[in-house]
Amino acid sequence: MAAATLRAASVLAAAAALCGAAGPAAAQDAGAGRAKAQACTVCHGAVGLSTAPDAPHLAGQPAIYLAAQLRAYRSGERKHEVMAVVAKPLSDDDIRNLAAWFNSIRIEATP
Ligand code: HEC
Repeated sequence: MAAATLRAASVLAAAAALCGAAGPAAAQDAGAGRAKAQACTVCHGAVGLSTAPDAPHLAGQPAIYLAAQLRAYRSGERKHEVMAVVAKPLSDDDIRNLAAWFNSIRIEATP
């Protein structure tokens, strides 16, 4: 299941890259984001479904929202001890790529 989700996400990310779906100015690289996201898995899970009870799910969230939160943690505008440390070394490209990766993961909600 997780492997299938990862594969599907890779296909989607590749398709998005081919279509230039990222838009003109912001070059997003979900593949690079996925590699960078290794550091996030301990709390946010391998596919963005969190394993730590106090960490939110990131899979499928809007890229704009995710990037804004990471920039806010980095600047100190949004305060959280752990995420401030995590976000501090991230470049603008890292943030765009991470946001693209977590956004590219497809999730299903069952009411
Ligand atoms: C040690 C655990 C830990 C690690 C590692 C970690 N996070 Fe987090 N993350 C958290 C917690 C806890 C929160 C909730 C913080 C809060 O209440 O503001 C959070 C919140 C976030 C949010 C805000 C989500 C929302 O819904 O508002 C984003 C985005 C995020 N993390 C991205 C990342 C990324 C990207 C990485 C890896 C580069 C990462 N995190 C690594 C624990 C972690």
